[in-house]
Amino acid sequence: MLIAGNWKMYKTATETAEFCRELREALGEVEDVDVAVCPPFTGLAPAVQALADTEIAVAAQNVHWEPDGAYTGEISAPMLVDLGVYGAIVGHSERRQYFGETDEAVGRRAAAALDAGLSVIACVGELEEERERGETEDVLRRQLAPLGAHDNLVVAYEPVWAIGTGKTATPDLAQEAHAFVKSLLDVPVLYGGSVKPENAAELLGQPDVDGALVGGASLEVDSFVAICRAGIR
Ligand code: PGA
Repeated sequence: MLIAGNWKMYKTATETAEFCRELREALGEVEDVDVAVCPPFTGLAPAVQALADTEIAVAAQNVHWEPDGAYTGEISAPMLVDLGVYGAIVGHSERRQYFGETDEAVGRRAAAALDAGLSVIACVGELEEERERGETEDVLRRQLAPLGAHDNLVVAYEPVWAIGTGKTATPDLAQEAHAFVKSLLDVPVLYGGSVKPENAAELLGQPDVDGALVGGASLEVDSFVAICRAGIR
């Protein structure tokens, strides 16, 4: 079970350090639940430092496919490894929607990160109109195609219509999509999209839901800790 907090473009480096200190106090024992926070790039070093002697992992929200080069504004896997970062999210729907991220680029980012020894959370998920047109499985098949199974790869199924909208997929719908993802790629699958303390236990109780990628509710220590505790089986 993995509960990862995707902070998106929230929290300065100073706020990150403060949050991580509070989190380590508040979390306590969460047996069998791996916990990760994914701050913006500027918060990675302070997060690694504040969580140094804990089990809480720190991951980035994106990573480039080249180890270095003329790629203004990008950050490479070796740079993350050097900071003590454990992994990276790739292919978040906000990157796909607002920054032109393609399936092929997501595959390259994932492969480079895995090769460098990072863990990867690769995000997939359909738009509302794609679900309405009955295209969910086609979309997932297309998005998963550039990814290959790997011990350090986890997929996050995040239906785009459920992200930041308060509209959560029903546990049955999430289970169905997760089982489909696993039929194509044998890796753990996290659910993401308006996960909150109130719905976490039911979603995490589904047989093919192996954790959660939490956005909004990961920005407060109390709600994030409550979701981590909901993952204890
Ligand atoms: P949300 O975001 O929990 O705020 O819906 C999830 C995500 O985008 O990873």
